[in-house]
Formats: sequence, structure tokens, C-alpha cells
Amino acid sequence: MSRLESKVAFITGVARGQGRAHAVRLAREGADIVGLDLAAPLPGVPYESATPADLAETTALVEAEGRKAILRQGDVRDLDALKALAAEAVNQLGGLDIVVANAGICIPATWDESTPAMFADHMDINVTGVWNTVMATAPALVERGGGSIILISSYAGKKVQPFMVHYTTSKHAVTGMTRAFAAELGAHNIRVNSVHPGAVATPMGSGDMVARIEETNAANPRLAVMGTPFLNQYVAEPEEISNAVAFLASDESSFMTAEHVSVDGGAQYF
Ligand SMILES: NC(=O)c1ccc[n+]([C@@H]2O[C@H](COP(=O)([O-])OP(=O)(O)OC[C@H]3O[C@@H](n4cnc5c(N)ncnc54)[C@H](O)[C@@H]3O)[C@@H](O)[C@H]2O)c1
Repeated sequence: MSRLESKVAFITGVARGQGRAHAVRLAREGADIVGLDLAAPLPGVPYESATPADLAETTALVEAEGRKAILRQGDVRDLDALKALAAEAVNQLGGLDIVVANAGICIPATWDESTPAMFADHMDINVTGVWNTVMATAPALVERGGGSIILISSYAGKKVQPFMVHYTTSKHAVTGMTRAFAAELGAHNIRVNSVHPGAVATPMGSGDMVARIEETNAANPRLAVMGTPFLNQYVAEPEEISNAVAFLASDESSFMTAEHVSVDGGAQYF
């Protein structure tokens, strides 16, 4: 596999979970990886936060694929930090071809438990963070004469993740942002697509996450079955999402843009 030979990919939320899987997969296909992760306590989440050791492990995994890794601790809410990393990538690796805006948070809460801080944090990270990522990197893709931008939304960006008004709102915003950026960046041969995973086995499901989801489900069990996949498999492995990301990053999807690709076992139609 070397569909991405001599390409450079910029990935946020790269310390663990899906971001790490995307980094390893794109490196295996030939891309050098530039990336950023908070790797520090996340605001208000019921699961464990990523650490600098997680980020170092992703670096080692990319290098084990024989590719370069420039991975930094940083926050997608900080546009200047993203711009500085994009500039470093251009200086050291010659440019950028692929962007994966993957960093995100998720806090289960019924509508009447939700707080202004919870809503603001989802908008700041899941929406403004994605916008910041595109704004910081797209100029390098324009300079290169084209590229592929992949925004990680969710099943919740197409249907509804019950008991997460803030998360569902943020992921629908990413779906709209995909179309809006695709419309303008198409003139530069830049494709913009979103990926919509259903449940994925990552550290987002660690700590008290499952218990909190079960508690919120109890508030209205009718909604608890929403998002059941048609397939027998309920939860995806991160690598199954990476398959879609690698396809969208490659020339095999050369005439696809403004598309919203689900990897959810059919859950959005249940
Ligand atoms: N796990 C699922 O079931 C699932 C389902 C659908 C969509 N998603 C989405 O997929 C993406 C990846 O999630 P995951 O499952 O790998 O979760 P994860 O929590 O394992 O990984 C997310 C990473 O993003 C980083 N991050 C969070 N806020 C950040 C910030 N402000 N700046 C920089 N980095 C930040 C975290 O430190 C973490 O390493 C997220 O956008 C998530 O919403 C997840």
C-alpha cells in the first residue's frame, strides 16, 4: 500500500483513539504525519483524558511505519497554535496535502442537566476547533494546488445522539461546514468530505462514560435504542473508520467532495 506516497497529512486529536489509528494508517500508505493533541485534562468529560505519553506513543507508531512524525501538544481552540504547526510542516516537510480534523469531546447529559459550560465547550472544540483546523491548513493546500480535507463528524451529525443536545448540535455544524468549505475550496482542487462514525471502541468510552450513558438512557428508554446498527457488530474498531479516511485522502475518491460518509453499520437509518 502506498497510495499516499510523498504526501503530508495534518491530523488533530492524534494522541490516541481514532486520531492515532488515522495517523498510523496514513503513514502506512506513505504519508508523513503532522499532528496536535491537547494531551491534558479535557473539560467536564466522564472519561479519561489523553496524556503526553499517548502522544509520544503515536509518534513512535508513525516512525515505526518508516514515516516522519511532527506531533505537538496543543489546543484546537488556539488558531495561532494550529497556524504555527502548519507553518512548521510546510518548512520541514515541504507542504500539506491531507487534513483530518478529528479532535472532539462528548459529554452525555439530558437536556435539563446540560449546562452553559457544556454547550460552550462542545461548540469551542467540536465546531470552532474544526473551523480553526481548516483555516490554519487550507492555505498550504491551496499553495500545493489541491488536496483532501476530512472533517470527523458523527452519527450524531446526521441523526440524533439522544441525551446530547450539545454534541448533536456540534456534529450537525460539522456536516454543514463540510459542504460550505467544499463549495469554496473546490476552485482550488481541494475536496472536503465528512466522516460519520457510529460507536467506536476508543478511550472516549473509558472511565464513567458507559455508566453516564446508561443513566441518561434511563430518563427516556424509548430513545435508548436509537442508533442501533443493522449489522450484528455494534461497535467499530478505530481502524474501520481509518479505512474510510484513507479512501477519502487518496486519489481513489478524486471526484468526491461535499459528501458525508457514514461508517455506522446502518445506525443512522434505524
Ligand atoms: N468514539 C466514538 O464512539 C465516536 C463516535 C462518533 C464520532 N466520534 C468522534 O471521533 C473523534 C475522535 O474521537 P475518539 O473516539 O478517538 O475519542 P478520544 O477521546 O479517544 O480521542 C479524541 C482526542 O482528541 C483530543 N482533543 C480533545 N479536545 C482537544 C482540543 N481542544 N485540542 C486538541 N486535542 C483535543 C483528546 O485529547 C483525544 O486524544 C471525535 O471528534 C469524536 O467526537 C467518536
